[in-house]
Amino acid sequence: MNTDIERILFGQAQIAGAVQQLAAEIAADYRGKNPLLICVLKGGSVFHADLMRALDFPVEIDFIAARSYGMNSHSTGTLEILKPPSADISGREVILVEDILDTGFSLAALVHTLLEKKPVSLKVAVFLDKMLGVQKPIEADYKCFDADNEFLVGYGLDYAERYRNLPYVGVLKREAYNGN
Ligand code: IMP
Ligand code: MG
Repeated sequence: MNTDIERILFGQAQIAGAVQQLAAEIAADYRGKNPLLICVLKGGSVFHADLMRALDFPVEIDFIAARSYGMNSHSTGTLEILKPPSADISGREVILVEDILDTGFSLAALVHTLLEKKPVSLKVAVFLDKMLGVQKPIEADYKCFDADNEFLVGYGLDYAERYRNLPYVGVLKREAYNGN
């Protein structure tokens, strides 16, 4: 285990099982529909890579990068698309693939922007869902795990761009925040 990690929340085998299970759910809904799996960079990249390989029918993939700011509990703020999807999503069945749903403001803004392009459908798959019991501007259509409200790293999730490559999800030691 990485020495900056306090404890592992979801290990590799548990993650693999949850991704397989979620893929079965998505397959039941999308088989034969050639969905477009859009990865929300960068955090969604690991989940996206695993999820697509767990789907045993034709899919297409794409990537989007965005930066959101000025968000509060009343508005979705401003969303700047740093990299739009390469595909034309109008008329497509789209699944957005993201690492974590926290307050939900960034995903809500992203969904709002993408809906302007008139996809046939737009659903959201997240690896983790946080802030349970809190009203959010958007809910996940598909998720692997619920998580408590603590800061997590690994499996795509970063702290200051580090730890994304850990194959498990863990809680950082306090020293790791101060050490940078
Ligand atoms: P929100 O749902 O708009 O609040 O923001 C979600 C984004 O915040 C995610 O895509 C992550 O980039 C980041 N984030 C939220 N919680 C965590 C965490 O525990 N670890 C790492 N990044 C997080
Ligand atoms: Mg993110």
